[in-house]
Amino acid sequence: MTRLYGAITGWGAYVPPHIVTNHDLEATLDTSDEWIVQRTGIRQRHIAGADETTSTMAIKASLAALAQANLPATELDLILVATSSPDYLTPPASSLVQAALTPHHIPAMTIVTGCTGFVYALVTAYQFIQAGVYRNILVVGVELLSRFLDWRDRSTCVLFGDAAGAVVVQATEQPCGLQGYDLGSDGANCQHIIMPAGGSARPFGPDVLDERSHYIRMNGREVFKFATRIFAPASERALRMAGKCIDDIDWVIPHQANLRIIQAAAKDMGVPLERFIVNIDRYANTSAASIPLALAENLANGRIKPTDTLLLLSFGAGLTWAAAVVQMQPQLHSF
Ligand code: COA
Repeated sequence: MTRLYGAITGWGAYVPPHIVTNHDLEATLDTSDEWIVQRTGIRQRHIAGADETTSTMAIKASLAALAQANLPATELDLILVATSSPDYLTPPASSLVQAALTPHHIPAMTIVTGCTGFVYALVTAYQFIQAGVYRNILVVGVELLSRFLDWRDRSTCVLFGDAAGAVVVQATEQPCGLQGYDLGSDGANCQHIIMPAGGSARPFGPDVLDERSHYIRMNGREVFKFATRIFAPASERALRMAGKCIDDIDWVIPHQANLRIIQAAAKDMGVPLERFIVNIDRYANTSAASIPLALAENLANGRIKPTDTLLLLSFGAGLTWAAAVVQMQPQLHSF
């Protein structure tokens, strides 16, 4: 049987137009531009408008990716949406995206692994492609976390932004696509990033509202330690599976959570920071959208070429991690 590969033929991103700078936050919070820049590298974030939802942002990024791939949405076989900030707990965000894009009743699945969601979804897409089950898959990473943040909690609300990113993965017989990956979950430490109430463990009620425990809470120091510990070994395992070494990688696209975490990863991995894509200063942490947003932006500006070999590197709630070695398109073929 012919071996099948997955080429990434389309990519797109959407960020809401409204920008909130660190200086804007100084007006309502006991914080400063200097603290935020020094501790995180963040200067501003985009925040969704009142008329936007997670699925409306996802649809905009998806349409851009489909246009780039020159693929009508009616040709899609599967939609995977990674998000931890859906429009509703149920129905799934993926079904809202499917309904907006295609009248065909194709499978649509929401993947909830926090900031690693896009890489988890991409690896899942490749399994369906390689098994010969589906040929055209839309993979979206989207987050509207500004609605789930406690805007009185300076230790979390300054860190996040809203965005969506999407790619189209298409079956091809030419070698390319996912070459190696490493996925993991350390659920015993899940309490370090948590929305304590609003789920089955603690249903919503007046007490929840008083305590503000329906918002995200985070133990920043523990998450920081986890992230800096996991990046180098996860990269090594993904590279080993790909039969590659770090020198074969053209660009590392890390999850954009904190510039200091990215700098520590670069040092640990022995890779110059110049080979890391960094845009945290403009978008902050957009969680599951951060990697597809960085990918789409740097493909659009020509810094990343579709034939480059990429290392995607992520960590997040769970606590989860995900590393993937990907060559989006084959070397000797242009789509
Ligand atoms: N502005 C000003 N001061 C702030 C602040 C803010 N926005 N947020 C926290 N502080 C204060 C703290 O209250 C603390 O004050 P204290 O010493 O008087 O108690 C001080 O700054 C230091 O806090 P600390 O938490 O030790 O800072 P830090 O250097 O660890 O940086 C984070 C905090 C959150 C930026 C950092 O831990 C981090 O990025 N962690 C990873 C988080 C992450 O990636 N989350 C997403 C996962 S996908």
